[in-house]
Amino acid sequence: MKLFIDSGNIKEIEALVPLGIIDGITTNPSLLAKEPGDYKDNLKRICDIVNGPTSAEVVAKDYEGMLREGRDFAGLHEHIVVKVPLTREGIHACKTLSSEGIRVNVTLCFSPTQALIAAKVGATYISPFVGRLDDVATPGMELIRDIVEIYNNYEFKTEVLVASTRSPMHIVEAARLGADICTCPPAVIDQLFNHPLTTIGLEKFLKDWEKAQAVKA
Ligand code: G3P
Repeated sequence: MKLFIDSGNIKEIEALVPLGIIDGITTNPSLLAKEPGDYKDNLKRICDIVNGPTSAEVVAKDYEGMLREGRDFAGLHEHIVVKVPLTREGIHACKTLSSEGIRVNVTLCFSPTQALIAAKVGATYISPFVGRLDDVATPGMELIRDIVEIYNNYEFKTEVLVASTRSPMHIVEAARLGADICTCPPAVIDQLFNHPLTTIGLEKFLKDWEKAQAVKA
């Protein structure tokens, strides 16, 4: 399963990418709005750092506006993936942009039928939001199970990009269900490295090593 960082913060991205576990980036208007500087320059910089798919979301709500913004984003950098919301206009824009060879990530997906229509118009990625479903007492991971099953039934090429992840358990469950990608805030990715037994074990190994060196000295 591929791992994306859900962030528009260049420092956070620069800290994680060299570790070799990151395959791409997702941003959204809320994330980009938090960062200083020109958002287009920031996006280009992020594409260079990660050297992989980087989602940039349109803010237009109408079809023509989405096409305009989407084509503009796609021209910024070869790694840009245009993100559109799962609305009628977004689905229409996905159809047109995809037919032009522009990769599209259809976002704000909360139901299997939404995922089905996104796949039918050639979305490169579908982004179901698991955390926001959990927030309203609806199991987010059941949506992932449904989408993976439907896409497998019809061999859709659209990749399932699990978004709105809040904890490592979302990552474990996404991987068990065969999702293609999980996008996670940096704080969640940081937690993937940690296990108390690793810390305790390493301390013991190093102490034993130092003791033996002291005896030999
Ligand atoms: O990028 C979209 C998504 O991951 C948002 O997450 O935590 O705001 O629901 P969250």
